[in-house]
Amino acid sequence: MTGEQIIRLEHLTKIFGNNHRVTAVDDVSFDVRKGEIFGLLGPNGAGKSTLIRILTTLIAPTSGTAYVDQYEVTREPESVRAIIGVCPQNSTLDLELTAYDNLDFYGQLLNVEETVLERRIWELLKMTDLTDRANSRVSTFSGGMRRKLEIVRAFLHRPLILFLDEPTIGLDPDSRFEVWQQITRLNTEKTTIILTTHYMDEAERLCNRIAFMDKGKLIALDTPENHKRALPAGDLIDIGFDHIDGRVLPAIRESGLVTSIEEKEKTLRISAKNGNSVLPAIISIFEKFSVPMTSISIHSPSIEDVFIYLTGRKLDSGEGEQPQPAGGGKAS
Ligand SMILES: Nc1ncnc2c1ncn2[C@@H]1O[C@H](COP(=O)(O)OP(=O)(O)OP(=O)(O)O)[C@@H](O)[C@H]1O
Ligand SMILES: [Mg+2]
Repeated sequence: MTGEQIIRLEHLTKIFGNNHRVTAVDDVSFDVRKGEIFGLLGPNGAGKSTLIRILTTLIAPTSGTAYVDQYEVTREPESVRAIIGVCPQNSTLDLELTAYDNLDFYGQLLNVEETVLERRIWELLKMTDLTDRANSRVSTFSGGMRRKLEIVRAFLHRPLILFLDEPTIGLDPDSRFEVWQQITRLNTEKTTIILTTHYMDEAERLCNRIAFMDKGKLIALDTPENHKRALPAGDLIDIGFDHIDGRVLPAIRESGLVTSIEEKEKTLRISAKNGNSVLPAIISIFEKFSVPMTSISIHSPSIEDVFIYLTGRKLDSGEGEQPQPAGGGKAS
């Protein structure tokens, strides 16, 4: 493992069942770098949670190896557990306990020293804006409040690596935004964060790199920008006009900046690998021939477009179990 890497998977495979065998994780290899927010993105049943459960030492792989920091997960699970924080897909908060007591109980399990623990709990409650709810039972919390509490709980002992399995599933847009802020804040404390999600906007917004998983396999891994650049079509630029000069189209075409161009209903539709960088040159061609533009828009491909390109399917059309709401099934 190089100094840059903090997690390494080598041909990791997990097969469940005897009669009905399911290859939940299928020969997956990749590295996670120190300090990054790494996203595992894929439809239901892709194998994301299984991968997280192997890395967090809850289950053993069928074959292959995984290192967390310098520790191999099956040989040194105790050492792995000491440096990770985990927020599982389904909530494990105790709804009958207060926010403070949930953190306190967990901190004691983690052997955080008592004097340190109290200070740490208040610090984390403040970070999540839950200070004034410290002594309320978690059963009275909204889904977003519960999720934020659960995420910082995993951070009580300042782990090197934080695993968040579907941190925002079932949350409304405002709560999701708050959880995103929380995750970013924890990442600025130099924690490496591995999160799973099937929300593309979440992966795109938070993650330095995204691994696409589908049916147990790793199908692509890169930064969000590079994933999009790999799409053959690139960005779409639409420029509206009232009257066009016949020389504009050939001039744009000959510039060599664009991959295709067509004129339709007083709009030029241009596709280009990097829309933002070629736009000024295109605008200057309109200006050169004194053609006024009535509108300009750029549509960049989304991470969803990438997934469709890679698999031929939409991300939400995966088979398998249904997503579970955050906050636990015991909510009253
Ligand atoms: N304990 C188990 N026993 C048998 N099969 C399992 C077990 N855990 C997971 N699987 C199967 O492994 C596959 C991958 O499941 P996993 O939970 O890892 O997917 P996921 O990507 O996390 O999906 P989701 O987005 O729904 O959380 C599924 O087909 C699932 O049914
Ligand atoms: Mg899962």
